[in-house]
Amino acid sequence: MKYKVFRNTKYDFAGEAYAKVYPNLHKYPATMIPQIGIEVLKELNINNGILLDPYCGSGSTFASAIEVGINEMWGFDINPLAILISYGKFTKLNPELLETYMSKLQNLLYSKLELNSSLLEKAIPKVSNLDYWFSPCVIKKLATLKIELENIPDENIRRFFTIPFSETVRECSFTRNSEFKLYRIDKNDLDSFRPDVYGTFFSKLKSNILIYKSFYYPKLKYTNKINLNNKAFEPINSHYDVVLTSPPYGDSRTTVAYGQFSTLSNEWLGHSIARKIDNLLMGGKKNIGIYSKGIIGHFISEINRIEKKRALEVSSFYDDLEMSIRQVAKSVKLGGKVIYIVGNRTVKNIQLPTDQFVAESFENYGFKHLCTYERLISSKVMPSQNSPTNKTGFKVNTMLFEYIVICEKINNS
Ligand SMILES: C[S@@+](CC[C@H](N)C(=O)[O-])C[C@H]1O[C@@H](n2cnc3c(N)ncnc32)[C@H](O)[C@@H]1O
Repeated sequence: MKYKVFRNTKYDFAGEAYAKVYPNLHKYPATMIPQIGIEVLKELNINNGILLDPYCGSGSTFASAIEVGINEMWGFDINPLAILISYGKFTKLNPELLETYMSKLQNLLYSKLELNSSLLEKAIPKVSNLDYWFSPCVIKKLATLKIELENIPDENIRRFFTIPFSETVRECSFTRNSEFKLYRIDKNDLDSFRPDVYGTFFSKLKSNILIYKSFYYPKLKYTNKINLNNKAFEPINSHYDVVLTSPPYGDSRTTVAYGQFSTLSNEWLGHSIARKIDNLLMGGKKNIGIYSKGIIGHFISEINRIEKKRALEVSSFYDDLEMSIRQVAKSVKLGGKVIYIVGNRTVKNIQLPTDQFVAESFENYGFKHLCTYERLISSKVMPSQNSPTNKTGFKVNTMLFEYIVICEKINNS
């Protein structure tokens, strides 16, 4: 191994749930527990400057940043749902105002006569196979709720309320809620599935307000700057002091389907790219060449010997990750640190050393590798695989550990 890895049990946070420091406001796949970021930022003595997360998801990195006193945070994610959740958690809002709006909305919805059908018709978004995923009664209630949410004049409050709306869309649809991919519940269960749309919404909203009030609001300052971007990362030369991120482990099709998880919500929220997201994420496009550079090249060529198609898919991911690292590298100030939390997934029984790839790529772009910690994954929901191989040099299984790769920028190459 070119870049040394230290097993560091401090970062296991064994048995600790995500919810311990900052409970999430919405389910999201493969979240990072903020405790890791808090600990690593403290270890590196980082407590100010501008922080970037180029794959911010539901914003765990920002929770870590706030905890150590960082004031300015930038995030990018192609998935609109991810950006919505991050905004909800890290925008300073008056909780009393949230409660006032909630009561107003309750009065309105529970006392209201039905909205006229042409208005409702207009509020129903372009959801592919709408009737396959929602009952007529649920569609009507979701559309009514959506109209009322759109009438909330304050953008920040509207966003905060849209988070439980999105969870309600998911929970009141015929999706199997325990899955990240879109699967419909059993045919025999369709008739008996009669969700209470408003009840679900208000119970989630209430709980979110409570979480926000107890965990986020006390830590947020009106002077916090949070700059969230619903797009792939765009570089700014020498702008960031620290990058803390947990990129995807691989392409969405064969690892975590962030887009599919969010499809129905994103469609109800009017995002026309909803069904295309997984193809837009890292590794989502088809490669025509095999990635052959550096340490990872050898492992991909082994996969290529077994199955070219898989080797091309894997190549697409590493092509994208390398390109992104190049952009991130030039955006970090001299002396700035990058912290990447990655997983070394197994494809065709070959473990891909993404930690080595990240360290090597940053070294190619003006950084020095400082250290890599190995931590045990205890609470992340990820696919894991365990199949024997007797090839030397290739470990079996794998998603049991994650790697915290830390590098420092030493020159502007
Ligand atoms: C492991 S998740 C991040 C989770 C996050 N740390 C959290 O705790 O919620 C990776 C994120 O990367 C996003 N993503 C994947 N490819 C991307 C790309 N090319 N540009 C921006 N975001 C991307 C996905 O949408 C997903 O939200």
